[in-house]
Amino acid sequence: MNQVLENIRARRSVRAYTDRQVSAEDLNLILEAATYAPSGMNYQTWHFTAIQNPEVLIALNERIKGAFAKSDEPRLQERGHSQTYCCYYHAPTLVIVSNEPTQWWASMDCACALENIFLAAKSLGIDSCWINQLGQTCDDPEVRAFLTELGVPENHRVYGCAALGYAPADAPMKEKKLKEGMVTILR
Ligand SMILES: Cc1cc2nc3c(=O)[nH]c(=O)nc-3n(C[C@H](O)[C@H](O)[C@H](O)COP(=O)(O)O)c2cc1C
Repeated sequence: MNQVLENIRARRSVRAYTDRQVSAEDLNLILEAATYAPSGMNYQTWHFTAIQNPEVLIALNERIKGAFAKSDEPRLQERGHSQTYCCYYHAPTLVIVSNEPTQWWASMDCACALENIFLAAKSLGIDSCWINQLGQTCDDPEVRAFLTELGVPENHRVYGCAALGYAPADAPMKEKKLKEGMVTILR
């Protein structure tokens, strides 16, 4: 099997990270891969905001928790009041993927870019996970104000984030169980 296909098969969502930071060189390669993703009409209206500062990540998590605490959903409220909840699993790097919501394919463009991020990271030995909580909370006023401070364009919604880093050495490699009947081929 070629390396691209092997890489696709080997990628898994990782939910525990060491403190080891992603190098500037690798982060640049990963972000470049994101920008090579396909986009509807080739508009490329997305924006990638990478955060590698632990204090900023903690502050962002606190804003997200604040938004959850206001929710009517008990599950989200519980997260909002939890001392330990960390939506990005303490990964050292988080990439926020945002886009103008004016085109209906904005979310699809971001999903393509996120998959490029995950696969580029995996090819460099870097683990990753899609983090969705900013998608749910980016319209909360406190979260929005903080995103603006971070440089997320004000006319953008967040469609997903990528946690990036290194799993602990003893983390087990999860087996992927694929459902039956997902593919139909007509010839
Ligand atoms: C649209 C989308 C949203 C997701 N949101 C989250 C999330 O917020 N937190 C999380 O831990 N995993 C999230 N995931 C990861 C999925 O749970 C994961 O891809 C799935 O369980 C399959 O496992 P694998 O990625 O290891 O193959 C998300 C995945 C997708 C595609």
